[in-house]
Amino acid sequence: MKSATLELRSEAPTKHKALLKWVDKMVTMCKPDQIHWCDGSQEEADALFSEMMESGMCIKLSEEKRPNSYLFRSDPRDVARVESRTFICSVNKDDAGPTNNWEEPRAMRHKMKKLFEGCMKGRTMYVIPFSMGPVGGPISQIGVEVTDSPYVVVNMRIMTRMGQAALDALGTDGFFVPCLHSVGCPLEPGQQDVTWPCNPENTHIVHFPEERTIVSFGSGYGGNALLGKKCFALRIASTMARDEGWLAEHMLILGVTDPEGNKTYVSAAFPSACGKTNFAMLIPPKEMEGYKVSCVGDDIAWIKPGPDGQLYAINPEAGFFGVAPGTSYDTNPNAMESCRKDSIFTNVALTDDGDVWWEGMTEETPEHLIDWNGNDWTPKSEKPSSHPNSRFTAPAANCPVIDEDWEKLEGVPIKAMIFGGRRMSDIPLVFQAFTWSHGVYLGATMGSERTAAAEGKQGELRRDPMAMLPFCGYHMGDYFRHWLKLQKDLDQTPRVFHVNWFRRGPKGEWLWPGFGQNMRVLKWVVERANGRGFAKETPIGWVPRFEDLDWRGLDFSLDQWKELMAYDREKLKMQTLQHEELFLQLFEHLPKELIFERELLISRL
Ligand code: GTP
Ligand code: SPV
Ligand code: MN
Repeated sequence: MKSATLELRSEAPTKHKALLKWVDKMVTMCKPDQIHWCDGSQEEADALFSEMMESGMCIKLSEEKRPNSYLFRSDPRDVARVESRTFICSVNKDDAGPTNNWEEPRAMRHKMKKLFEGCMKGRTMYVIPFSMGPVGGPISQIGVEVTDSPYVVVNMRIMTRMGQAALDALGTDGFFVPCLHSVGCPLEPGQQDVTWPCNPENTHIVHFPEERTIVSFGSGYGGNALLGKKCFALRIASTMARDEGWLAEHMLILGVTDPEGNKTYVSAAFPSACGKTNFAMLIPPKEMEGYKVSCVGDDIAWIKPGPDGQLYAINPEAGFFGVAPGTSYDTNPNAMESCRKDSIFTNVALTDDGDVWWEGMTEETPEHLIDWNGNDWTPKSEKPSSHPNSRFTAPAANCPVIDEDWEKLEGVPIKAMIFGGRRMSDIPLVFQAFTWSHGVYLGATMGSERTAAAEGKQGELRRDPMAMLPFCGYHMGDYFRHWLKLQKDLDQTPRVFHVNWFRRGPKGEWLWPGFGQNMRVLKWVVERANGRGFAKETPIGWVPRFEDLDWRGLDFSLDQWKELMAYDREKLKMQTLQHEELFLQLFEHLPKELIFERELLISRL
């Protein structure tokens, strides 16, 4: 294949004074060899991929099997978000709260300045203007990422609305979030580059919430480097949302259409690698005729009170950065279709015919692969062929069930919110909160077993309030208060639910089939949110009886149901008392409502 080279756009295509000044400053500090203003075009992406193929950074997949798609292998030390190196540098330590790492902003700026001094030598600085949310929408926001990673550029092109349109929307004095990123590996003249430059010893992902700026050094992977995603759309946006009366949440958004054609939108917060992508585009069992699920987003929701007193949500992203392992035509056909073309794969295996493979993709394991480290792999190999946090980057527009209103500027109305985590034991399949504040309590006390999406011990149970523990840009206690306060601006608060797809039996077997079968729970949720559907009042909340769920086409017995829905009052009481730990940690900022909710729950139990 003939390799194109990037035609540099070093002339700034904007008259925005503050932006020009900031970029100049970054150039002076980082000292790149050259600068390129990204326009987001196909030609630009093609040229970047060509250059990266040439340098060995990526492999073009078979045009026949996986059109217009590429495979990257990261440095094995740079494979997931690093929460221990993620900082919220608010002026006051108390504003970051006990769940975030904090350093004094001036000291941190000083430290970062040292790291960034000359860090782009021998490299190109790419300037990426991007819009989170459809360009020009009332909920949308603009950011500009400066990076020395061409991998970041091609990913941001899928994950955001990137290029000239964002600059045009910014005009000459619009507000933008400056996002500085470097892999932290300057090249001396003549020095050979590595295929995945990174600097793990010095990795820092830093947020200055008051200034609404982001600085990230040393990692090229996912949320550490695609700064529009967790850094902007969650950590910085959550502080903007606090100040302006809206919500920035780690939530998927989906629409359910019932056989009569009524549409209900639902958002759901599950921690990283706990099934948001699967739930967001699930295919209902065929026996549940007439039900349809459409996808608005799979990871992040920006939610604002609308003029009619309902909450409206947009997906600020334009693509999916989805967990690969476990994704298959059985578990999530729509995700498989989304990454069938025009996609980027990171840390999955390469097949002999130039396609990708990962654990769980097909029932049959290929005889031979090149694993994510670039080594030969056979079914006898001890380690998995793909990293557990390997991912595909796919355009949302490729998704066969993308919602017709997914780019609607003012968003879609949210009628129900679901919280859930990975809970092997104790927590029933589904229940509904009695009130908004009970719902906030359920979200605030959510727990989940750790996954490979971040560093740390997998499987260990940790509190992950609203799935936002790694993503809330301010004090978690204030965040809960903000959620409670939001009700005042609403005529109609969404109904709140809790789910757990991950309960296991005594032999470690799943008690619930999950995936498409989750539609049975979703149908009940939607009925309840619309004031229909039956539920029984119990100490933990409203609970469906066996006969309240649609069982057409699934052989699931009353005994199985009982096991799945059972909870031990004493055990739950003990667990509730364990929330004390989180509550004590947040004590000074903790809203009283949550303490009352806990007391009420304990006395009901
Ligand atoms: P992030 O992108 O990290 O925020 O995570 P996500 O919540 O989008 O994760 P994703 O949907 O990619 O979760 C993938 C993991 O959850 C895979 O291991 C799936 O097999 C598993 N999973 C998803 N849905 C279900 C389900 O209904 N039941 C069970 N048992 N596992 C599920
Ligand atoms: C998550 O970890 O929740 C993700 C992946 O969605 S990353 O963008 O890397 O944070
Ligand atoms: Mn996520």
